[in-house]
Amino acid sequence: MCGIIGYTGPAPVLPILLEGLRTLEYRGYDSAGVALVGAGALSVVKRAGKLGRLLQALDGDTVEGTAGVGHTRWATHGEPNDRNAHPHVDPAGDVAVIHNGIIENFAELRAKLAADGAVFASDTDTEVVAHLVAQCRRDGATDLAEAVRAAVRRLDGAFAIAVVDRREPGTIVACRREAPLVLGRVSGGALLSSDVAGLIAHTRDIEALLDDQVAVLTRDGIAVTDLGGRPAQGHRFTVDWDIAAAEKQGYAHFMLKEIHEQPLAVRETLLGRVDAEGRVTLDELRADADDFRFVDKVYIVACGTSFHAGMVAKYAIEHWAGIGVEVEIASEFRYRDPILTPHTLVVAISQSGETADTLAAATHARAQGAKVVAISNVVGSSLARDADAVLYTRAGPEIGVAATKTFVTQIIALDVLALYLAQARRALFPDECRDHLARMEALPDLLAQVLDSEQEIAGLARRFCRAGYVMFIGRHVGLPIALEGALKLKEISYVHAEGFAAGEMKHGPIALITDGGPVVALATRGHVRGKILSNIQEVKARGAVVLAIATEGDTEIKEHADHVVYVPEVHELLYPVLTVVPLQLLGYHIAAELGRDVDMPRNLAKTVTVE
Ligand code: F6R
Repeated sequence: MCGIIGYTGPAPVLPILLEGLRTLEYRGYDSAGVALVGAGALSVVKRAGKLGRLLQALDGDTVEGTAGVGHTRWATHGEPNDRNAHPHVDPAGDVAVIHNGIIENFAELRAKLAADGAVFASDTDTEVVAHLVAQCRRDGATDLAEAVRAAVRRLDGAFAIAVVDRREPGTIVACRREAPLVLGRVSGGALLSSDVAGLIAHTRDIEALLDDQVAVLTRDGIAVTDLGGRPAQGHRFTVDWDIAAAEKQGYAHFMLKEIHEQPLAVRETLLGRVDAEGRVTLDELRADADDFRFVDKVYIVACGTSFHAGMVAKYAIEHWAGIGVEVEIASEFRYRDPILTPHTLVVAISQSGETADTLAAATHARAQGAKVVAISNVVGSSLARDADAVLYTRAGPEIGVAATKTFVTQIIALDVLALYLAQARRALFPDECRDHLARMEALPDLLAQVLDSEQEIAGLARRFCRAGYVMFIGRHVGLPIALEGALKLKEISYVHAEGFAAGEMKHGPIALITDGGPVVALATRGHVRGKILSNIQEVKARGAVVLAIATEGDTEIKEHADHVVYVPEVHELLYPVLTVVPLQLLGYHIAAELGRDVDMPRNLAKTVTVE
């Protein structure tokens, strides 16, 4: 949450900052602002609302400088208005700070500063940092870097900050603790950003700052130290995707483009997972089969859509590897006392690899002796670095706030992990593993077939978009997809939607059914199909209009449902990869029909770095 960008160097600073903010806007869009330093002056322009409002405010204005920082906000402390927009400045107007995260002891720091006479111009925790840095300089810090190090030593919480000072034009000082911050060296200068997407137009060689490291960016490059000022180095890596991957390429929204990229994303995620003998190989896992042979319990921890991917994986791991699995919302897991042993495997799933709750759950698990495997889409993310082992999804950058291609690739990575566990424990014969992998390798083509039904689904979206409430029901692997379909719809269209275990309907939720109310039922072939047909009849009998997602060739379903969208026949455990696609498209087209801001839904942000 919140996007941070910074640049120092010979090129005009403002256009680089604004372009970076455009790329990072998906991280938060409650307000946007920039601060530039040059020739002893500090200029700050900021506005509540999306980036467009900042651009209007800047129109015709010449804000110049030799270095600058920019921010796009997802509000935590203080309502989203001009006053609370970043950057925040100290009362003397020397220092400007942008920040992503939460300063947990800000109230205490603010009270102390106020007792010394400080007057605050905003309600934010960030402004406290500007005051503190300025105070540390007054108290004798030799330069801005020293002042930032001294100030950060007094901060609690999770944060990434970037600071400029009008007395040191050309310098940006940045620091992080449990919030992402990446750096890039460019000709004659340097850049910083909350994520790789902000740097990719300039460089692919990235240095991710580690916790409590401080980076000083000047025209001479980047110097990293620890909080004591001793030289240090972040995590260096090269990204293998280019700027085109982060552009819309003719689609109306990133979300739609990303839905259509799913065949490719699945293909990429499966690449190199099978050796010449047809065995599952996970070279990047930083662990070997012996580490998994004696696993006797799996916990999966994740949030939101990633949690739904974990629910899907439970069926595969239990069925193929024969290990009991519990799937938990990360923010709940960390406050329980789960029974973890060295034979417990904790799988932490996060597309961004920066979700605060999931990071904390993984840390909690490791502290108790469990092994943690991360599933992430972001190479070098905090989760990927901190885990014992990592398995990357290779979906490419996902910009739309609603997760789509990262969800299906998470399922693929988890299914591969399930087969790997089965192989390590000899729970499946080698030819059984091979057959499952071959079935997975057919999925990209089948996904492309499902995408062909987009126009039909757009028609259904026009029918359903005025409904006040949409229910999604499913059983077995259809249940997580019902939950995911409801989440997609509600988060981007603001239409109230809920997913239910179909068998639970009669225990309460069926009371919600009204005449003509839409119910989406996951009704593909499998051992629970007969049961779901009965559930469809129950809601039909009470007036529901049913859209069934069914298997190609199932003509009988038409006798029960009002509308049917077909997906090709696959192994029962693989249906979620296909059945989620019509639901993503339904959510997308309903939101588009209602004129919603699909890629930037209200109140949300792509990366959730606060608890
Ligand atoms: C919904 C969505 C969120 C994320 C959740 C976890 O479309 O994107 O529910 O799935 O915030 O994010 P990650 O996977 O980055 O940990």
